[in-house]
Amino acid sequence: MESGKILVVEDQDAMRESLVIAFRDEGYQVEGVASGEEAIRRLNGNNNVYDLVVTDLKMKKVDGLEVLKAAKTASPSTEVALITAYGTISTAVQAIRDGAYDYVTKPFRHQEILKVAKKAIEKKSLKDRVRYLEGEIRDKYRFEGIVGSSNAMLEVLKITSQVCRTESTVLVTGESGTGKELIARAIHYNSHRKDGPFVVINCGALPENLQESELFGHVRGSFTGAIRDKIGLFQHAQKGTILLDEIGETLPSTQVKLLRFLQDGEIRPVGGNKAIYVDTRIIAATNENLDKAVESGKFRKDLFYRINVIRIHLPPLRERREDIPLLVEYFLEQITEKLKKGTRTFSKEAMHALMNYDWPGNIRELQNIMERAVALSRKDIIDLDEIPLPLERFAALTTTPMEDEKRKSFIVTTLAEQEKNAIIEALNKYSGNQTKVAQILGISTTTLWRKIKKYRIKSQHEISDKI
Ligand SMILES: Nc1ncnc2c1ncn2[C@@H]1O[C@H](COP(=O)(O)OP(=O)(O)OP(=O)(O)O)[C@@H](O)[C@H]1O
Ligand SMILES: [Mg+2]
Repeated sequence: MESGKILVVEDQDAMRESLVIAFRDEGYQVEGVASGEEAIRRLNGNNNVYDLVVTDLKMKKVDGLEVLKAAKTASPSTEVALITAYGTISTAVQAIRDGAYDYVTKPFRHQEILKVAKKAIEKKSLKDRVRYLEGEIRDKYRFEGIVGSSNAMLEVLKITSQVCRTESTVLVTGESGTGKELIARAIHYNSHRKDGPFVVINCGALPENLQESELFGHVRGSFTGAIRDKIGLFQHAQKGTILLDEIGETLPSTQVKLLRFLQDGEIRPVGGNKAIYVDTRIIAATNENLDKAVESGKFRKDLFYRINVIRIHLPPLRERREDIPLLVEYFLEQITEKLKKGTRTFSKEAMHALMNYDWPGNIRELQNIMERAVALSRKDIIDLDEIPLPLERFAALTTTPMEDEKRKSFIVTTLAEQEKNAIIEALNKYSGNQTKVAQILGISTTTLWRKIKKYRIKSQHEISDKI
């Protein structure tokens, strides 16, 4: 038994009736009408959504082409099959270009039209399903400012939308610039805490001796320099969300306090003996492998379990290249508006390079490169040579894999050196002010801090930073 709703439009009574019976015998729900006018009336009727319209092409007054048009206007996914006579085949071909599914030529056997009907209805239900899924995913998991349609990103968005409705602690992992903070923000601003504060703390950038006091506060006299009571960042995040970035950088003593908070919702300021109840949600983020830190004993296992309740992993951009065109389009619009430039596009070669580059700095790097390219471009179409990256080298790697690797590591080394030098230079120029330096270099303070650590940069100045 087949299922589906069919409208048969045929002005010859015998033909129409036999078609209606043939379809009905197969299990379809069928309606038969004797004119194009009546067909259009039904198609425009409120509850009439047909899966398939089978219409004679040549009819008096309103013909099959008009029925086709009306059917597609009323519901674009409705399929239309035409019945033609020999003389009208060229019109039928035209009709297919206009969106008809297929045609059968008179005289035909019932088997023939039944086969066409079956296929057309299958196609329609598949189309409906895809549309439904696309619409569902788009509406359900849409967050403002988060772009991506790769399977990996849809999965991320799905979990994100689920955790918004909960109070669970979330661990967001991913390389630098993959959007960890963006996801954390989305969770906060789509949760019932959205009217409360969203506090971001880079645990690694807190001076070690002040880590506990910054997070949990201290009481007067608890250590030299503690001249008055101080409220910690946790308390600043009352009724809101706290993003503990680089959670792997917390000291053992801080980890104990975090564990206690996750167990009882209480914190204890340094030097204080009274516990304070704090209502805040924790989102932790890291770009290192926390599992490894647990194995090596650097990070408490019990705290890891408490934090790793729900994990959202952001894959690097090179593993979801299909998101690049969408991101490019999104950033182009933002950047041209910000820089007050006219519409810009990338040439085919430039786009090819953007698609093929490895993006070690992920989405932030793409954003920065694009901003520089747009700022420098004088034409509407930005070409490959206007993109400030050693892109050709990456895109044109056509040598053997072994050589590729060597070349790549060579490029990476030189890039690393350049990067290190740029950071040192900027730190010296801005007296070690990391916020300023990050801004100048177009990276986040977290990334800057990470790079300072990676390259073991010691500034001549005391590295100062306000968190
Ligand atoms: N899916 C996305 N759609 C649009 N913009 C994005 C997306 N992901 C990241 N971005 C943008 O890229 C930049 C970097 O994102 P974010 O700061 O969240 O990364 P991160 O993972 O926290 O990086 P880091 O580890 O360096 O702190 C931000 O400007 C952010 O808005
Ligand atoms: Mg970040």
